[in-house]
Amino acid sequence: MSRGAAPRLLIRDLEQLVTPAGTAAPLRGRALGDLDWLDDAFVLCDGPTVEAVGRMRDLRPVDGDVVEVDGRGRCAVPGLVDCHTHACFAGDRVEEFALRASGASYEELHAAGGGILSTVAATRAAGERELAAAVRTHAGWMLRAGTTTFEAKSGYGLDRDTELASLRAIGASGGIATWLGAHAVPPEFDDAEAYLEFTLREVLPDAAQLAEFADVFLERGAFDADQARRYLQACRDAGLALRLHGDQFTEAGAIPLAIELGVRSVDHLEATGAAGVRALARSDVVGVLLPASALFLDRPMAPARALVDAGAAVALATDFNPGSAFCESLPLVCSLACTQLRLSPAEALAACTVNAAHVLDRASRIGRIAPGYQADVVLLDAPDWRYLAYHLGADLIAGVVRRGEVVGDVVSPGAS
Ligand code: NIG
Ligand code: FE
Repeated sequence: MSRGAAPRLLIRDLEQLVTPAGTAAPLRGRALGDLDWLDDAFVLCDGPTVEAVGRMRDLRPVDGDVVEVDGRGRCAVPGLVDCHTHACFAGDRVEEFALRASGASYEELHAAGGGILSTVAATRAAGERELAAAVRTHAGWMLRAGTTTFEAKSGYGLDRDTELASLRAIGASGGIATWLGAHAVPPEFDDAEAYLEFTLREVLPDAAQLAEFADVFLERGAFDADQARRYLQACRDAGLALRLHGDQFTEAGAIPLAIELGVRSVDHLEATGAAGVRALARSDVVGVLLPASALFLDRPMAPARALVDAGAAVALATDFNPGSAFCESLPLVCSLACTQLRLSPAEALAACTVNAAHVLDRASRIGRIAPGYQADVVLLDAPDWRYLAYHLGADLIAGVVRRGEVVGDVVSPGAS
């Protein structure tokens, strides 16, 4: 597409436009809450890129074809970035949800061969087309909730064919693929060691061509720290960047391992104690907070306030999956971040935009509304952008612009 040939997109007369300040990433400490906040604002997009942002009074006439979007009564925030989902699965876990409601625990169900392994059975039974359709459906739900970039993990196949099909399905839906080859030990293996040997030998070489990241579930009943180290080192040697599920139920050495290996993020942290908070704050590892998962499992919340106050870099994500967080909404996660994690709305917004983009190694392109960034913008039907977190569970998304195009059936009434 030659520059100037396609019409530009002008979002005009916005009540407010809010974006994380500066260009640094990740934001930590007090800087996490620093936003640039413009009233009566516009965003001008040239193709997939933001060309200019400013106040209406400073808007100069725009040459050439322009598609205008009416921003009156609306607030613009950056397209939301979901850096932790398990969006590639078949079936559901509604029966398990009902059992948990009558007292069964998530860990008990897992130990009895349900939980993750029941989704593994359903995912193995689905073909690649069905899996791709499932990821497309889930990506559509996320987009309607304002998510313009998502990561998704495999980990419900755990055999060669289904793991590779999962990674292809994620890529085909525009997701950023993470190989979660070490999510659980599948039933055909006696122990974690034998399974790891198989998956690193038989699956990793091809998974490394399809994924950007590798992840492991380091937890009692899943993989221990030595096994996680072995898996992650092999994945790093194969060219993957590293993530880690850690401290979800117990502190089993995830934070020391994350720091030792210099992983991109350690995710969950509901069980993290004071020493873990201090260690993470001194490191470059991002702590990814998943309050929808803690809420859904009725678990303690991660020590998010302590992490931010100690200077740790944190991001927010949904953890969208059928078992522990059947929730695709980052606005809902922002609300939980304010009421349960004691983050401010500004900190929550930065955590699921620029800091989440940093986790995905894309902070120079996404997570902000600023010239040169990808033109990903969410329009909120609200008089103040903080309704994003304030209006609990509301559908506030009036429009989504992704790579400079109005997407979905959420076109602003002002679009021509
Ligand atoms: O992040 N804890 C490990 N994996 C997912 C849950 C997966 C599932 O229950 O299906 C999580 O919570
Ligand atoms: Fe997860």
